[in-house]
Amino acid sequence: MYTDKVIDHFKNPRNMGEIEGADGIGRVGNVKCGDVMYLYIKVAKRTDSKGREEEYIEDVKFKTLGCAAAVAASSMTTELALGKSLDEAYKLSRDGINEALGKLPPQKYHCSILSADGIKKAIEDYWNKKQDKTDN
Ligand code: FES
Repeated sequence: MYTDKVIDHFKNPRNMGEIEGADGIGRVGNVKCGDVMYLYIKVAKRTDSKGREEEYIEDVKFKTLGCAAAVAASSMTTELALGKSLDEAYKLSRDGINEALGKLPPQKYHCSILSADGIKKAIEDYWNKKQDKTDN
């Protein structure tokens, strides 16, 4: 059985879609079922509470070609990541996302993997592109 939170996020997914000219894109495939998800981030800069400049997720969107649990987990991931610093968002875990959803049924736990890995890959993509720019 799915929790009300899972059903809500599946029926009304937050931040679904694509970001034109995204700063980072994460593509993840689920080896267990063959489903795929794309996660897009837009990064901006702000000053943190200690007066230091930090990069944060100004916008995030997802496209999931997957099951109801994967859609709900993706939606929850974007909600958790939006507005977080890149370092904080990078720490979002499969368990954390699963907890926030009120827990997926055990046989559906693997569906939360897509989005947890998707946000990490999108951030890594951003870091890699930034590194390339610095190298050139
Ligand atoms: Fe494929 Fe859920 S069954 S992600």
